[in-house]
Amino acid sequence: MITTCIFDAYGTLFDVAAAARQVASEPGRADFAQHWPALSEKWRQKQLQYSWLRAITGDHTDFWSVTKDGLDWALESEGLDDDSGLRDRLLALYWQLSAFPEVPAMLAKLREAGMNTAILSNGSPEMLSGAVQSAGLGEVLDDVLSVESVGIFKPAPQVYDMVIQRFGCAKSHVLFVSSNGWDASAAAAYGFATVWVNRAGDPVDRLPGQPDHILRDLVSIPDLVTR
Ligand code: LAC
Repeated sequence: MITTCIFDAYGTLFDVAAAARQVASEPGRADFAQHWPALSEKWRQKQLQYSWLRAITGDHTDFWSVTKDGLDWALESEGLDDDSGLRDRLLALYWQLSAFPEVPAMLAKLREAGMNTAILSNGSPEMLSGAVQSAGLGEVLDDVLSVESVGIFKPAPQVYDMVIQRFGCAKSHVLFVSSNGWDASAAAAYGFATVWVNRAGDPVDRLPGQPDHILRDLVSIPDLVTR
C-alpha cells in the first residue's frame, strides 16, 4: 500500500527545456533559435555529469554551481560563450521553470486521496523554493527535500534515506517518480516502488534497479496509487 508519493524535480515536475525554449522565442534571439535544442540538451547532460562526478570524488558543491558550470560548458560548445546577456537570461529562467501541465491537478488528487507528497531533488533549497513558488505548487506538497541536507547528490542512497527519515514509512510504502532513468533505477534498487516517466520514449537504463511502471506522463499517477 502506497502512502507517500515522492517526485524528482527537474525534468519530472519542471520542464528543464523551458528556459532555453523561452529565450529562443524572445525578440532579438533569432540566432539562438538555431541552437537552443542542442544547448539545452548539452546543459542538462553536463549538469548531471558534474553532479555524479562530484558525488564520486567527494567534492560536493550545490546544484546551482553545477547548473552554472554545465551552462558555461554548453555555451562554449555551441560557440555562444561571448554573449553575456544570454547566460544571465537562461540562468534567471531556471528559477521559474514551468511545471508540466498535468502537475498541479495530479498533486491535488494525491493530496485529496490522503497521500503524503514531496519533492526529493538535487536542487538547492533556494532553487527549489523558487521553482515551487513560481509554479504555484506550495499548497499541494507536504515538503521539499533537498540533497543539501546530506551533502551528496543522487543516486547516493543517503539521499533516498531522507524520505524514510521525514515520513517514517516503510520503503515499500513509497512511490518514487522520476523522469531520469538512472534515478528511477537507483530508487528501485533502494527498495521504493517506482515510476519512470519516459516522455521521450528512451530505452530503459541498463542499471541494477528496474522501474515498476513506465509512463509517458504524470496523469495516471493518482489512479496508480489508489486503485
Ligand atoms: C533532480 C534532478 C536530478 O531534481 O532532476 O534531482
